[in-house]
Amino acid sequence: MRRPLIVGNWKMNKTIQEAIQTINDLKTLVTDIANINNIDIVICPAYTALYAVKHAIAHSRLMLGAQNIFWQENGAFTGEISTSMIKDLGCSYVIVGHSERRQYFKETDSDINKKILVSLNKNITPILCIGESLQNRVDKLTFNIIKTQLEHALANVKSNQITSVIIAYEPIWAIGTGQTATPFQAQEVHLFIRKFCEDKYGYNIADKMRIIYGGSVNSENISDLMKETDIDGGLIGGASLQAKSFTQLIKNLK
Ligand code: PGA
Repeated sequence: MRRPLIVGNWKMNKTIQEAIQTINDLKTLVTDIANINNIDIVICPAYTALYAVKHAIAHSRLMLGAQNIFWQENGAFTGEISTSMIKDLGCSYVIVGHSERRQYFKETDSDINKKILVSLNKNITPILCIGESLQNRVDKLTFNIIKTQLEHALANVKSNQITSVIIAYEPIWAIGTGQTATPFQAQEVHLFIRKFCEDKYGYNIADKMRIIYGGSVNSENISDLMKETDIDGGLIGGASLQAKSFTQLIKNLK
């Protein structure tokens, strides 16, 4: 049985005060969730709020993640932040290769691979985002794209490290659009991802890996997605911003 994982990606939203307020609300609301001890919940605020959120989540079931890192340890890399720095801020997770970073900041598969390797070496769990564009899907290239992204991102990741990688399937056309992949569409790709990992690392390892879905997930569609065998959780953008809607989503996980 894989442990469900829900990750809130706040993107470039919330001041420090707003972040603390949301966490305080969330801490109160999640105490009502019956099976809370069986779910992993990670919040990924903007860098500027990480320190405050680290303190706000103390003594709660919430864990902390960053939205990005650079692969160098330190040096003349203006504007960048290393894995040691986010570790220092209390992060145990980091989102790597989000499609917004690939699209707006021109991150390549090779950049993403370096980020995966460095976070694994520092014992930070990377959440590797992969997914096809609408055009790719129309052109029936979804599986080719996913395969290429996985091959590059997971190059040189060893079998004793891979179960620490979370893979997030996020079709670009579903992110922030309100147009979620159907459970069938998502499951089909999740199964493909697990099979890819099985071919590379073997059944026992692939079976343990957590593969989560992202793209317009909300409290209404989460339970149908989670019924699928290979969907182990969600990467949530918009619906993670408000404590109430995020709590409702977690309640509806089942
Ligand atoms: P969304 O974002 O839930 O707002 O679609 C998901 C994501 O980008 O991770």
